[in-house]
Amino acid sequence: MAPIVSRPLLPLAPHLKQAVASYQRQEPLGFGQVMAPVMVRADYSNGEWSMPELVPYQGLTLDPACKSLHYGQQVFEGMKAFALETGEGALFRPQMNLARLNDSAARMAMPAVPSELFMQSLESLVWHLQPMIPRGPNESLYLRPLMLATDVGLSLKPSTSYVFLVIASPSGGYFAAGKVTALIERRDCRAAPGGTGAYKVAGNYGAGIRADIKATQRGCQQTLWLDAVHKSYIEEFSGMNFFAVVDGELCTPSVSDSVLRGVTRDSVIQLARGRNIPVAEKPLHIDELLAAIKRGLCAEMFACGTAAVITPVDALAEIDGTTYEVPPSTPSSLSLILRDQLMAMQTGRQVAPDGWLHRVGHT
Ligand code: COI
Repeated sequence: MAPIVSRPLLPLAPHLKQAVASYQRQEPLGFGQVMAPVMVRADYSNGEWSMPELVPYQGLTLDPACKSLHYGQQVFEGMKAFALETGEGALFRPQMNLARLNDSAARMAMPAVPSELFMQSLESLVWHLQPMIPRGPNESLYLRPLMLATDVGLSLKPSTSYVFLVIASPSGGYFAAGKVTALIERRDCRAAPGGTGAYKVAGNYGAGIRADIKATQRGCQQTLWLDAVHKSYIEEFSGMNFFAVVDGELCTPSVSDSVLRGVTRDSVIQLARGRNIPVAEKPLHIDELLAAIKRGLCAEMFACGTAAVITPVDALAEIDGTTYEVPPSTPSSLSLILRDQLMAMQTGRQVAPDGWLHRVGHT
């Protein structure tokens, strides 16, 4: 059967086809725990990218003095492929991930990944890994494109060679079932103006881990980050964008150079506006939000991102144990309505706006 894609697919070696065919799902699936036996690889040197290839998933040989290990020239994306009822696989808004990957690369003085290389890699991986796309509720094939610098040498200079990879992981939901409480981080900062917070750069996430450990020790599942200048304005969670429904308005921090331009964030805004729900992208002062919660004006909070989809957040907490709870979510909560709509679009059960669902399937 011919795939519905506009470019040739990369070939998969027979032994790798066999490895995919013999995949046995593990229980519980978890998130990002199981890796597909195939990945994409392309190399950049002398100003050019090689043709991407489907290769066995295996360790990389990196020189201990390579620049990505020392100076963090590394960028990545988070994407998902979904199983449609027709049996096809589908990507969700892949052009947005490509654009953001290249914005991240530009910020880190790395080369752009050409659209053809990116799309051919993703389509080929999804086509060949179709038997590994899980079909349960909240399940998908999580895809991680990444690029890292491979020049050897300890001088602080941009690398001239890079490797681009796409790895894949059959995955379930990001959060374990149960309440989600986020600890407000009042000491560390995740991102500063002019820095890399708006990009998918490994260092942003690494800089948040210490606070995440503290949050876990306090019984919280997430960290809520404030801006670096005033330590007052909400920016995002460690790996997701922030939304709250305050006084009937869906509010989210405006994007800035320290807030990620989330693909799910953008989808949530479009879906909410499509329902005539007022949406405000604006600076959100933490004190004002806490006051709104205390006065019962904040009906909901949620986190959204590729991995997290849309996850209700039940409470915010301070380090001294004070908590601010919003009413428990119900099937009529906006977060759950939008989540159902988004997931129905991602799996082809509901028509999505033009260009959102990118089918990689059988004719
Ligand atoms: C994603 O949502 O795809 C991310 O990259 C966030 C990560 C913390 C899982």
